[in-house]
Amino acid sequence: MSESQIKLYYKNVTSEVIGPEHGITADQLKQLAEETSPLISQLNEEKRAGKTPYRGLPFNKEISQKVKELVAELKDRCENLVVLGIGGSALGNIALQTALNPYMHNLDGAQRPGPRLFVFDNIDPVQFGLFLDWVSDRLDKTIFNVISKSGQTTETLSQFMIVRQVLLDKLGPEGYKERVIAITDAKEGILRTISDDVGFKTLIVPNGVGGRFSVLSAVGLFSAAMCGIDIDSVLEGARDMDARVSCEDFYKNPAAINAVINYHFYNHGKKISVMMPYSYALKDLADWYRQLWAESLGKAKDLAGEDVHIGPTPVKALGATDQHSQVQLYREGPNDKLFTFLQVNNFDRDLKIGPAPDCTPELGYLAGKNLSELLNNEKRATEYALLQSKRPCLTVVFDEVNPYTVGQFIYLYEVTTSFAGALFGINPYDQSAVELGKQATLALMGKPGCEKLAKQIQSLTEIDGDFLV
Ligand code: PA5
Repeated sequence: MSESQIKLYYKNVTSEVIGPEHGITADQLKQLAEETSPLISQLNEEKRAGKTPYRGLPFNKEISQKVKELVAELKDRCENLVVLGIGGSALGNIALQTALNPYMHNLDGAQRPGPRLFVFDNIDPVQFGLFLDWVSDRLDKTIFNVISKSGQTTETLSQFMIVRQVLLDKLGPEGYKERVIAITDAKEGILRTISDDVGFKTLIVPNGVGGRFSVLSAVGLFSAAMCGIDIDSVLEGARDMDARVSCEDFYKNPAAINAVINYHFYNHGKKISVMMPYSYALKDLADWYRQLWAESLGKAKDLAGEDVHIGPTPVKALGATDQHSQVQLYREGPNDKLFTFLQVNNFDRDLKIGPAPDCTPELGYLAGKNLSELLNNEKRATEYALLQSKRPCLTVVFDEVNPYTVGQFIYLYEVTTSFAGALFGINPYDQSAVELGKQATLALMGKPGCEKLAKQIQSLTEIDGDFLV
């Protein structure tokens, strides 16, 4: 294993630091460790039995091989890569790009190791329309990567149908066929039917891998590899983390400890989980985590079918920005949150703060210091302030942000989610509650057979002027 392991630091959730009313005691942790250890074996067994297919992704050489072959074929003739997808079919792509490519990637060709990347995970007509205006003169150098596991998500298919018409009008059927890469199920769904009909090149979302667990499949790897990210190192990081989160010694297993701490605090009134990276590169991983945690753990029923209405609410914040937006609430508002900071020890580059102007010698304390020192001290300062208010704080420590450590982080949180699901006694892999909204949208958009539902929705959601002020 490489030296650069991410680490979970958990001292600052303990009663030793924030007292027994709000902190976890050594005895409580010991008892949870004893109760949880069988779950480690259970999850390992589920992995071996192929019941959690996402855990096989880092080991699946065929996927990365197919991705690399397609990238080799397309890269030279692609200046713009446009991902059309939503939820688990977009958030991982965005997170990898923000974490592992330069901030100026889309603006500065000299810094760009691949095409510009645009990920459209929404259907805002103004945003998408303005982009189409820009890209319509550049279609011959643009690839549209449509991603949908189910192949029938309304938002993604609507975007696709707009793009399809633009491509047909401008480039004709051959150009249309060449400029779309679909990532979807191997056999089923509308996008599969269209892909087979037109003859699009496709990559597969493996069976049994849900959207939010799919970033280490072609879903996340294709756009990453196109944009020059070292996907082998991402997968290597995930594989190395697999060994750590499979460890049957509870105290050496970061996913087990992370899940148990989150579970304990949820059961002790801290129902909100705030993830707060102190690194711009990591900010969209917090967004990715927000979906993973919310869709996986927010459930009405437990595995026995009993009503539980359970699930921690994930919140993302960004240090130092949100110190000036959220920390007032975090310190003085209800003590109902568990904080997880993401800390980076070594940034890719640093900046020295310039000398103090002569008229303000009081700024001399900043002069000549590194910006990374300031940012990391702001993290410590915020953590200190929260601890003074007896708020529990975890930290995930990155020695540096690179494909290997980001791969570890992704896999750590995926397996933490599986652990948390087992602790809460719910199924973390379904998302039945999202379905009603999807069906309602279809009904409102006039899908045949949904007329009754459309009427019900209209009567409930039509604006009643008596209540409009
Ligand atoms: O995690 C999930 O399952 C969801 O967020 C899906 O990724 C999202 O609804 C998009 O679904 P699809 O990839 O089928 O278009």
